[in-house]
Amino acid sequence: MQEPLDTHSKGRNALAGRVAGKVAFITGAARGQGRSHALRLAQEGADIIAVDICKQIDSVPYPMSTQEDLAETARLVEALDRRIHIAEADVRDRAAMQAAFDAGVAELGPVDIVLGNAGIAPMSLAPSPDEWRDVLDVNLTGVYNTVEVAKQSLIDNGGGAIVLTSSTAGNNGMGGDSPAGLSYTASKHGVVGLMRSYANILAQHSIRVNTVHPTGVNTPMINNEYMQNFLQRDPSMGSAMTNALPVDVVEPIDISNAILFLASDEARYVTGVVFPVDAGVTNKK
Ligand SMILES: NC(=O)c1ccc[n+]([C@@H]2O[C@H](COP(=O)([O-])OP(=O)(O)OC[C@H]3O[C@@H](n4cnc5c(N)ncnc54)[C@H](O)[C@@H]3O)[C@@H](O)[C@H]2O)c1
Repeated sequence: MQEPLDTHSKGRNALAGRVAGKVAFITGAARGQGRSHALRLAQEGADIIAVDICKQIDSVPYPMSTQEDLAETARLVEALDRRIHIAEADVRDRAAMQAAFDAGVAELGPVDIVLGNAGIAPMSLAPSPDEWRDVLDVNLTGVYNTVEVAKQSLIDNGGGAIVLTSSTAGNNGMGGDSPAGLSYTASKHGVVGLMRSYANILAQHSIRVNTVHPTGVNTPMINNEYMQNFLQRDPSMGSAMTNALPVDVVEPIDISNAILFLASDEARYVTGVVFPVDAGVTNKK
């Protein structure tokens, strides 16, 4: 019989915190939600392996992260007295991702938590074939690569928790009159398919797999000149994204708190679940 969960236990070592002594592998960790997840998990006792591309992708019209952003994530985690291994890697590049993962494990020890968070949202009114390919490659194949490079290590380690970042666009069609969201919506629905299959495949190894589905989040992905212009040119998109609760966009910490729960032992029997953090927008549709 399973031991009752002692929420006051000291975890694997004497550290305090809801993920004390665990190691988390996080993609897209240079800024935005990924950085927030790194800090929230570090506050609760985890060490972090932080991966980001730190480069521009040609089809993405808003500025992507920089090396300085990733270095700042490292500084902030270390200020919390936790350890961090940073690596510049493109989630589309399986070999680079494996190298980043392996180097992180060599420095910090086996991984318990995997967050497939990196993503792009170009949102062109007339999307090019390149944009379609890049969005699917980053948002879907990149998440697949993230799980693939980590899963054997989690199996060897006796279990773990994987949380994949989808979107409200992973539950519903995006709305709006333009084709801007087609690739994004397709990729985020695809992430749900990955999650559901991995949850079945990996359950026998005590690995849980869930998705989070944020509504608009106050990060550089949407908080930029390009996206604001886009919403003005296609107002139907903006009105389709209006939340039920009286809030325009949520903050990264709101997503991080949900991920902390899903990644922690508090959610030890939660797997295969789509978990909206969406201020009621999905229910409204
Ligand atoms: N901001 C929102 O409104 C919102 C809403 C729902 C879901 N999401 C999703 O949340 C996740 C995090 O986005 P965010 O809001 O923090 O945006 P963001 O642009 O601030 O952060 C995304 C990070 O991913 C990195 N990244 C992008 N492509 C990469 C690649 N190929 N390899 C490695 N790293 C890469 C970027 O450099 C950036 O640091 C994304 O998957 C996004 O689709 C965002």
